[in-house]
Amino acid sequence: MSASTNEGLYLDPMKTAQQGAEAIAQRTGIASHQIALVMGSGWVSAADALGTPHHEFDTHEIPGFEAQTVLGHSGKIRSYVIDCDKGAINALVFLGRTHLYEGKGIEPVVHGVRTAVKAGCKVIILTNACGGINTAYRVGQPVLIRDHISLTATSPLSGAQFVDLTDLYSKRIRAIVKNEDPTLEEGVYVHWRGPTYETPAEIHMMRTMGADLVGMSTVPEAIAAHAMGAEVLGISLVTNAAAGVTGEKLNHEEVIAAGKNAADRMGALLKGVIPKLL
Ligand code: HPA
Repeated sequence: MSASTNEGLYLDPMKTAQQGAEAIAQRTGIASHQIALVMGSGWVSAADALGTPHHEFDTHEIPGFEAQTVLGHSGKIRSYVIDCDKGAINALVFLGRTHLYEGKGIEPVVHGVRTAVKAGCKVIILTNACGGINTAYRVGQPVLIRDHISLTATSPLSGAQFVDLTDLYSKRIRAIVKNEDPTLEEGVYVHWRGPTYETPAEIHMMRTMGADLVGMSTVPEAIAAHAMGAEVLGISLVTNAAAGVTGEKLNHEEVIAAGKNAADRMGALLKGVIPKLL
């Protein structure tokens, strides 16, 4: 579907998100969820560590979502009840996301997080697969996003919304996660539109700019969620060395496989931190 056929759907994106949230509440019987997780390429198996979902449905059953097409992105929404000493936490998990490179425009890219915030979520965890620009990083290593550089020249916001991004990737939440796993590093993530991977020269430029990680997601969602008042945690899984770092060619299967191999560790990390974030 082209961006133009979507125009009617997103004429009022917040209203569409509100309709999405109401449909989720109706589908799950849960009036309000507290936390949402967006699982990127290869992260879907990590969601299984959260236990058995109380509900699972296709994203396209909810207003504003379309069927998804990318290998490794299955396009489902799950609702979990996670028991902890503070009581039960209702978590929404999005398996798969829409990317800018799909050419559908920015609105569908951020519709999931907007729907999650409208559904009550105060904390949004964004996961992704990324290339490691920092040569100290190893494949299979999770890295917390400390900050980002946007190279897509696009924003989910328009109009005079001069939102401060100083603490976009919540310092409070990063401290909690590092307390859970002190081996975690923090890095700067570059958002690259794709769908091509970068050239070695582009990776060289990004490293010179101060970037550690590169990927094709997360940044618009982080901005959209933050602008609505939610706290954001970004976790990148290094699935490959970025272009030119090793001289090897990049491929999507390698990205998915690295995600699958790290799924248990990622799942345990998420399960451990969720009760501490709210
Ligand atoms: N570049 C951009 N996006 C990615 C990469 C990469 O090397 N690996 C996984 N997603």
